[in-house]
Amino acid sequence: MEAAGYHNCKKTDGICEGVCDGEHGSKAVLSMSRLKCALRGFDLRALLFLLIGVPVIIFVIYVHGQKVTYFLRPIWEKPPKPFKVLPHYYHENVSMANLCKLHGWKVREAPRRVFDAVLFSNELDILDIRWNELSPYVSEFVLLESNSTFTGLPKDLHFKENRKKFEFAESRLTYGMIGGRFVKGENPFVEESYQRVALDQLLKIAGITDDDLLIMSDVDEIPSGHTINLLRWCDDIPEVLHLQLRNYLYSFQFFLDDKSWRASVHRYRAGKTRYAHFRQTDELLADSGWHCSFCFRYINDFIFKMNAYSHVDRIRFKYFLNPERIQHVICQGADLFDMLPEEYTFQEIIAKLGPIPSTYSAVHLPAWLLEKAEQYKYLLPGNCMRESG
Ligand SMILES: *[C@@H]1O[C@H](CO)[C@@H](O)[C@H](O)[C@H]1NC(C)=O
Ligand SMILES: *[C@@H]1O[C@H](CO)[C@@H](O)[C@H](O)[C@H]1NC(C)=O
Repeated sequence: MEAAGYHNCKKTDGICEGVCDGEHGSKAVLSMSRLKCALRGFDLRALLFLLIGVPVIIFVIYVHGQKVTYFLRPIWEKPPKPFKVLPHYYHENVSMANLCKLHGWKVREAPRRVFDAVLFSNELDILDIRWNELSPYVSEFVLLESNSTFTGLPKDLHFKENRKKFEFAESRLTYGMIGGRFVKGENPFVEESYQRVALDQLLKIAGITDDDLLIMSDVDEIPSGHTINLLRWCDDIPEVLHLQLRNYLYSFQFFLDDKSWRASVHRYRAGKTRYAHFRQTDELLADSGWHCSFCFRYINDFIFKMNAYSHVDRIRFKYFLNPERIQHVICQGADLFDMLPEEYTFQEIIAKLGPIPSTYSAVHLPAWLLEKAEQYKYLLPGNCMRESG
């Protein structure tokens, strides 16, 4: 009734008078009743708003604050300068001389030496797939691990404990361990850059010299073997080149996009080259491998990573770490942190809303993954259930 009265108020005074209090009379009385009518409508609305609307809005912002800000991101943040994407040519039956030529480069008489350097946390399976993919082309594997996560939590030395599983790499391995600083409440990016500086030292110990090819990427950013083979065999490649990788989430079942660009390849220059994971140049070589984020075997690994992650602030609620929820999210291809896609245009945000659709293609994946399909089944399409251990 009251709502109807208010609605009518807006439309015609005549009906409002009747609805409000039925008074008719002098102009003064009429305007009084109008005022009352307006006030009554206002009071009720204001009261309803205060009692229900305000708490609801506060709750929605509390729960979905990230979503609100991310959705509005196209307004407050400009996209970074686009990359200059270099076309990438490859077929197994085309000669290296021709492949180099297709890219505008010349083939060398002998390949460059290749150093693959990573900061290791606990991703043993992905490391095994990576090293086997790159093994035919790598001269020296360089691996650094710490007993601290980037967020300052103590962690086991998983590589050291499992070193015997990587026998095939042993003769070409430079391993380093660095003690964490365990500074409470520090920005995780500080510990991360501290570890990257240590990796620069380890590279020198490994014997890197000028014009050796250095791969800088996280363990889960896996360049394809043929890409590294091309870059070691061709002259005149850029001094620094980012690699465009296919982004997967949880396993190779969920292909997200091809926008991973952080991995890079450098022609090493002593005193100049620094191990980094940010944008260092404008050139990006297309379709150069895979980036498999959160591709873990055990639910506990997901929980560990969520806590150890440099974006640990994304765990806004304790229930995010609930194992049943995590399993459900993995099978859905949904987001572990219940976040919106991080994109720069409304069009892209909307296109990516909701879970990632499944792909049933296991074509052009790392060879070792298919060789060991039984062992790495959880990474292949159609196997989203994880072990809890
Ligand atoms: C690739 O080369 C091999 C050996 O020269 C040949 O047997 C094969 O048919 C070629 N494949 C394609 C797709 O051209
Ligand atoms: C981490 O490693 C350093 C160097 O070996 C050691 O001194 C420190 O006690 C270790 N801390 C933890 C928590 O394991």
